[in-house]
Amino acid sequence: MTALTITPNGPLRGMVQVPGDKSITHRAVIVSALAEGNTTIRGYSHGEDCLNTLRACREMGVVIEEHPDCVRIQGRGLRGWQEPTRPLDCGNSGTGLRLLAGVLAGQPFFSVLTGDDSLRRRPMGRIVRPLREMGAKIAGRQHGEFAPLAIEGGSLRGITHTSPVASAQVKSAILLAGLFAEGETTVHEPLPSRDHTERLLRYLGVTVEAAGGHVRLTPPSAISAKDLTVPRDISAAAFFLVGASIVPGSEVYLPGVGLNPLRTGILDILQDMGADIQVRNPREHSGEPVGDLLARSARLHGVTLSKEHIPRTIDELPILCIAAAVADGKTVISGAQELRVKETDRIRAMATELRKLGVVIEETADGLIIEGGAPLHGGRCVSYGDHRVAMSLAIAGLVAESPVHIDDTACIDTSFPGFYDNLLDLLT
Ligand code: S3P
Repeated sequence: MTALTITPNGPLRGMVQVPGDKSITHRAVIVSALAEGNTTIRGYSHGEDCLNTLRACREMGVVIEEHPDCVRIQGRGLRGWQEPTRPLDCGNSGTGLRLLAGVLAGQPFFSVLTGDDSLRRRPMGRIVRPLREMGAKIAGRQHGEFAPLAIEGGSLRGITHTSPVASAQVKSAILLAGLFAEGETTVHEPLPSRDHTERLLRYLGVTVEAAGGHVRLTPPSAISAKDLTVPRDISAAAFFLVGASIVPGSEVYLPGVGLNPLRTGILDILQDMGADIQVRNPREHSGEPVGDLLARSARLHGVTLSKEHIPRTIDELPILCIAAAVADGKTVISGAQELRVKETDRIRAMATELRKLGVVIEETADGLIIEGGAPLHGGRCVSYGDHRVAMSLAIAGLVAESPVHIDDTACIDTSFPGFYDNLLDLLT
């Protein structure tokens, strides 16, 4: 089991090229594998989560060449995947498992999806129920609530599904299944979640309409392959945006970061807290907005975040807890109960670990109350095997009075191989 020790060590200065967006990479790989023709995907995420999705596609006969800066995928068409001969291991990735479940629901063969201990504890009923309603036969532990999931796919019918949670994974699983269904598929969600699946499918010519909280997909007869460029991951950039904001004297430049408006809650919230972050050179990659970010240190103050803020910043809440711990005044986060079913219970994990560093933090059923501004002291923390908890605690270590030791940090590689080297580069 690996560990990190972060010793407070001056400002962060320089440029960091964060990995390709994890959410978009999963979708780019899966959809290219379903397309007719070859796709080159540039800037893909090398994180373990995405590599597991890539391996799963290979298990179904998809030929994929990996290069350092791109992957080449020989699409097999909507109906060309082959029955896998063994269970598909999605590792730590909820996105990988749930999106693949959507596709496999529409395939006329048997498949099994599984993952690591954390993934096998995460709720799957939220995708199993609508996929069954579309006509797939799915078995799983506790009546399909938990993976492994065994799927006998086949002919599906389009449905109208109202999701009780704002979840892009749920929405995407159903829309991907909708590619194979008879008739249109519509998903309604309580608040808009990231729309990478919709943007990618539209970019490839599929009819996907969004209006008034509904997304409706019309099944295509085929998808034509087109080369794709993945923006860098704003969720990875978030660690450096907060690091640069809270370590005095810092200035960090992050080029080519994805700025999908359903992911940029972190920018709006940090700016509301008083951060100095500039967006430069707005442009587009394969239907997704992109820009360069410049973050300089600034004095932060606490904020109040409620349920409307959560979907646009869901993965950044752990690192926002670090900003809140350093900020003047109180930060209140509510409406974030989804954090309890991520790679770990992130509400419990952040409250427990930040308390070890001397932060006054209270856990509520659906969020956290953080009293900011007191100095952080060093200590020994654990990541609970959660990459975002591990990286958030590492950033906390930059402003602690003495070293912060974090156990169980190999998980960082699920989304951000090279995180520690990037951090060291900015410190020297
Ligand atoms: C993701 C959606 C979010 C997010 C996850 C990636 C995606 O999960 O937390 O890291 O790529 O669709 P939920 O859909 O469960 O909210």
